[in-house]
Amino acid sequence: MEERKITITAIEETPDFNEIKDLIIPFWPEQFGALPDERIVLEYEKDYRSKLDRVKYLYVDKRIAGWYRYSKFPREAGAKDVHTYDIAVHGDFQRQGLGLILMKDMIKDSRSLGYEKLLSRSFKNNEGSIRLHRAAGFTEHMKTSDSIVWELDLHAADRESEE
Ligand SMILES: CC(C)(COP(=O)(O)OP(=O)(O)OC[C@H]1O[C@@H](n2cnc3c(N)ncnc32)[C@H](O)[C@@H]1OP(=O)(O)O)[C@@H](O)C(=O)NCCC(=O)NCCS
Repeated sequence: MEERKITITAIEETPDFNEIKDLIIPFWPEQFGALPDERIVLEYEKDYRSKLDRVKYLYVDKRIAGWYRYSKFPREAGAKDVHTYDIAVHGDFQRQGLGLILMKDMIKDSRSLGYEKLLSRSFKNNEGSIRLHRAAGFTEHMKTSDSIVWELDLHAADRESEE
């Protein structure tokens, strides 16, 4: 296989959600209710909070192949914990380890910014998400009727899974 260049870049300005619509529209959870494509992009634009959210894109060569967003939890200035909001890899690039690369970057990034805990959630029918969280070292915090809520202590001694 040809050598690919993988880079992860922080997006400091408000993201252009149209630019990453292929990474958000197909993955809009059915549990959130069906919406037309433009409305999904609009929901992202409305929901984004520049001082609370942290966004990075993963490039394979020059193409945006994945992204993540995490946010303070609770979603207010003084929060000590963070919560994943989005983590997605384009269909052309899934099952190649990129989701794990993104998740490990999110863990490193949130730890370096001084947060204590990273929380996350997978719908029970999303096997890829569940396996990804396990592989990244999350433990199950609780279950709800449709989801698993995960947590990861960002400062625990055992960081083996990130090596
Ligand atoms: C979840 C997602 C980000 C994983 O990205 P990826 O690049 O395919 O993941 P990786 O190749 O790094 O694989 C990570 C682990 O998940 C497993 N996995 C990934 N996709 C899977 C799938 N569809 N079914 C079963 N297992 C899957 C891999 O086998 C691997 O597990 P392992 O370490 O036990 O072998 C990707 O499937 C995606 O974008 N899904 C749609 C958006 C989404 O649901 N995001 C999660 C919201 S919480």
